[in-house]
Amino acid sequence: MTDFDAVHERRGTGSSKWSKYPADILPMWVADMDFPAAPEIVDAIRNRLEHPMLGYGVARDELRARIVADMEAKYGWSITADDIVFLPGVEPGFNMALKAMLQPGDGLVVQTPVYRPILNAPGHWNLVRHDVALRPTDQGHVMEIAPLADAISRSKALLLCNPQNPTGKVYTRDELGQIAALCRDHDALIISDEIHCDLLFDGRRHVPIATLSDDAAGRTITLMAASKTYNIAGLKTAFAIIENKTIRERFTQSRLGMVDSVNILGLEATLAAYTHADAWKRSMLAYVQANRDYLSQEVASSFPAVRLIKAEATFLAWLDCREMALTPDPQTFFLEHGKVGFSAGSEFGAEYAGYIRVNFGCPRSLLSEGLDRMKRALHKK
Ligand SMILES: Cc1ncc(COP(=O)(O)O)c(C=O)c1O
Repeated sequence: MTDFDAVHERRGTGSSKWSKYPADILPMWVADMDFPAAPEIVDAIRNRLEHPMLGYGVARDELRARIVADMEAKYGWSITADDIVFLPGVEPGFNMALKAMLQPGDGLVVQTPVYRPILNAPGHWNLVRHDVALRPTDQGHVMEIAPLADAISRSKALLLCNPQNPTGKVYTRDELGQIAALCRDHDALIISDEIHCDLLFDGRRHVPIATLSDDAAGRTITLMAASKTYNIAGLKTAFAIIENKTIRERFTQSRLGMVDSVNILGLEATLAAYTHADAWKRSMLAYVQANRDYLSQEVASSFPAVRLIKAEATFLAWLDCREMALTPDPQTFFLEHGKVGFSAGSEFGAEYAGYIRVNFGCPRSLLSEGLDRMKRALHKK
C-alpha cells in the first residue's frame, strides 16, 4: 500500500510542477499530486511493456466496458460503449467541443473563478465569453440564478466545471437542475468538465449533469479522466461521453488533425485505475481530506485575515488573501519572501488577484512546510 507520508524527490524526473521554479522554492501550484501512482497502475504499465510493441493505440473493448459499467454503478447512468470518445486530455476535449458546436461570435458562459484553460478556450475560437461569478458564503460558493439566466440567454453554450477548480465546489443536484433547465429553455449546449469527479470529500456523491434528464443527456458533452484522481495526468488520457449521436459525430470530426489518438500506456493505466485501484483511491481520499482539514485549521489559527471556504472536492484550496493587502499580490509575495510557489489568483479571473490557489495533494510534511514558509514570509513583512 502506498505510504502517502513518504516524500519522493521529483526534481530531475521531468516533472512540470517541480521544474518551474529554482530548487529553493517549494512548488504547490499545478493540479498534480506528490504521490506515486497506485502499484496496480504501475504493474499494468510494466506488464504492457513486456510486449515491446508500442505502435498507435486504440481503447480496448474491455476499457469501454469498464467505463460503461462504472457509470451505471456510480451514477445510475446508462451509456453505451459507442458514446465514449477517447482523447489525449480534457482540455483538448472542451476546445474540440467549442470548435465543433459553436460559431465565431457565439456566446459562452463560464462560472468564475475558474481554471485558466477554461477561461482561455473561448478566445481560441473567437467566442464571446460571459463570466458569471460564484458567490462565496459561509455555506460554500453559491450560484446566483438571475445573472446566470441572463448570460445563458445570450449564449449558445455553457462550459461547466464540476467539481469546480479552484474553489473545490461540488454543484448540488438542485443547482445542476437549474443549470440544465436554463440550458433547455435557451437551447444551449452543455460542456461539462468533470475531471475531478472522483475526488469528493465528506461522503459527497458526484452527479453528472447529463444524468438529470433525457433533455440534459441530449445536449451535454461530459469530459472525464482517471488522470487527476490517480495522479497519472502525464499519461495524457481522457474521454468524452456524448449520448447524442449528431453531437458526437461533429465533436469527433473536430479533431482536425490536431487532436491525435491516445497514449497506449495511458489507456492501460486508465483501465487498471478503474479496475484495480479502488482501495488506493479510498486511502488517498482519506489522506487528502485530512490534509484539507489540517490546512483549514492552520489557516484559521495562523492566518485569521485569510478567508478559506473548505473545498468539497479536489486537492485545491482557494485562499482569499485580500485583507492582508500583500504587494504586489499574494502569489508574488509568498514566492519572493516565503519561497513557496502557489498559483496566482489572477489566473482564474482578472478580478481574483488577491487570491492564491494552494495544492494540498502532497505528503503532510510538505503541506506543513508550505504553511511554515507562509508564516516566515509574513513575519519578515
Ligand atoms: C478542471 C480541469 N480541467 C482540465 C484539466 C486538464 O486536463 P487534461 O490534462 O486532461 O487536459 C485540469 C487540470 O488541472 C483541470 O483542473
